[in-house]
Amino acid sequence: MMKTLIFATHNLHKISEVREILGQDLKILSLEDIHCEKDIPETSRTIAGNALQKARYVHKISGLNCFADDTGLEVSALNNAPGVLSARYAGKEKDSAANIQKILAALHYKTNRRAQFRTVIALIIDGKEKLFEGTVQGTITTSSRGVSGFGYDPIFIPDGYSETFSEMSASLKNKISHRAVAIRLLTEYLSEIR
Ligand code: IMP
Repeated sequence: MMKTLIFATHNLHKISEVREILGQDLKILSLEDIHCEKDIPETSRTIAGNALQKARYVHKISGLNCFADDTGLEVSALNNAPGVLSARYAGKEKDSAANIQKILAALHYKTNRRAQFRTVIALIIDGKEKLFEGTVQGTITTSSRGVSGFGYDPIFIPDGYSETFSEMSASLKNKISHRAVAIRLLTEYLSEIR
């Protein structure tokens, strides 16, 4: 029988990315599928801490095997900011357009535009906790480009490509992204233990 895991997120973009990356390997249930409408707290000072906090929260209320991801954009010239504060970089509202404008303004006079996305996935399975990390290196553009994806995708060009994540197809982003790397490690682990 296909293994089932809850993905502890309300972000529909993340759900569809993870479902595409996993294909038929695993059945992913969303929080909506288990009728959890609660806003999950993420108050840790680290990306790994937030991923664990979200996974523990959902495991506690559901008792089911689950995982959560937390992602940050780390910009070299900004001392790796916004990092764990990526969602609220420009304020409390998780406003991606405002977050992007704030990064572009902060880098206006900088020649070093290197950055990376870092995703940590926290898995809780049969009561055990396990972390998986994925990163992708790249550069920040000077303006927003493209319409697909979400978050900071319109200003991030992964190394080896000339398009931003928002300009490339979803299937290409899902082959090379930080989230894809972390999800592959998760599936390798699941196939080892089951
Ligand atoms: P969180 O992991 O949902 O807390 O996301 C933190 C911030 O990073 C939010 O502003 C997201 O929109 C953004 N983010 C998360 N994953 C991605 C991604 O794959 N591409 C671009 N931005 C992302």
